[in-house]
Amino acid sequence: MTLPPILLSREQVEQRVAALGAQIARDHASTGSLHLVCVLKGAFLFLADLIRSIDVPVTIDFLALSSYAAGTTSTGEVKLLKDLDVALDGRHVIIVEDIVDTGLTLSYLQEILRARGPKSLATACLLSKPSRRQVDVQLDYVGFTIEDRFVVGYGLDYAEQYRHLPYIGVLDE
Ligand code: IMP
Ligand code: MG
Repeated sequence: MTLPPILLSREQVEQRVAALGAQIARDHASTGSLHLVCVLKGAFLFLADLIRSIDVPVTIDFLALSSYAAGTTSTGEVKLLKDLDVALDGRHVIIVEDIVDTGLTLSYLQEILRARGPKSLATACLLSKPSRRQVDVQLDYVGFTIEDRFVVGYGLDYAEQYRHLPYIGVLDE
């Protein structure tokens, strides 16, 4: 298997994720009960690196969403394949997502989680492709804004491949 060309190097990703973690920690220095919700599977490495740069008390939980192939839904309605282990009420919650494309998945997820009564709900995404957006979704922490390219690595896949790459590569060349 030939390796996809590098869009964002391991060092670039490491530095940016560390900076995001530090920013999240600063923003939550006095709030307490910071709770990160990782969207499986794509965000697992992002979460793992992010929490190591957050030097305030933090808890984590995981959920998995059904993925619909492009064109099979216009609403972005997603199904929870794996739900969270603990309730969100009273917590300061940050959704940790790999990439925001049309925004449909995330806006639906935000709606589901907001209904569970967290004290606050923010979103951190590693990558954002604003040119693809179909809904205006709120992003509080963004790692990198990228062009409309199909990217893999650092957790992101194409047909379950490439998640192990330590960098973000481009597949669409
Ligand atoms: P959205 O609902 O269109 O924003 O879709 C977001 C989801 O599509 C992400 O969580 C990814 O699972 C997937 N996705 C979108 N763009 C890419 C990409 O460039 N590489 C890998 N997965 C992607
Ligand atoms: Mg995802």
